[in-house]
Amino acid sequence: MKVKLRINGEEREADVEPRLLLVHFIRDVLKLKGTHVGCETGHCGACTVLMDGKPIKSCQVFAVQADGTEIITVEGLERDGKLSVEQQAFVDNFAIQCGYCTPGMLVMTRYLLGKYEKLSREEIREKIHGNYCMCTGYVQIINAIEDAFRRAKGSEGKETGS
Ligand code: FES
Ligand code: FES
Repeated sequence: MKVKLRINGEEREADVEPRLLLVHFIRDVLKLKGTHVGCETGHCGACTVLMDGKPIKSCQVFAVQADGTEIITVEGLERDGKLSVEQQAFVDNFAIQCGYCTPGMLVMTRYLLGKYEKLSREEIREKIHGNYCMCTGYVQIINAIEDAFRRAKGSEGKETGS
């Protein structure tokens, strides 16, 4: 079956098996290896990408279901070779150890920055409950997401959504 979508601003299309998962389409057909595969059961969040602006676990979606959509992967966060706000915040806050969860965490952070003006630490913890990190204990990750909000919006943001 044919899949045609826009990924990180670029139109791509390919013929695929109907059973091919989106995460494998992204990694193996489109050769964008930044999106990781962890559990393949929808639990770990390593495979998180944005589909039409919303975070999805790409191991839980068939590639054909993404036909006609707009996808953003971790490769789509930087601009002109410069790290994005969330990427720089993760680096500066030492929020990466093995890096397996990092692409999903960064994509989720992009989503949160787009949806909310401000989140408390508790709210950040709750919003990333679908993204597991086996290494960091989450403290640095939450620090990094808080820092990304400060950098993107200043420290005096206000709540806009839930
Ligand atoms: S690989 Fe998709 S949620 Fe774990
Ligand atoms: S840094 Fe290793 S799983 Fe998060």
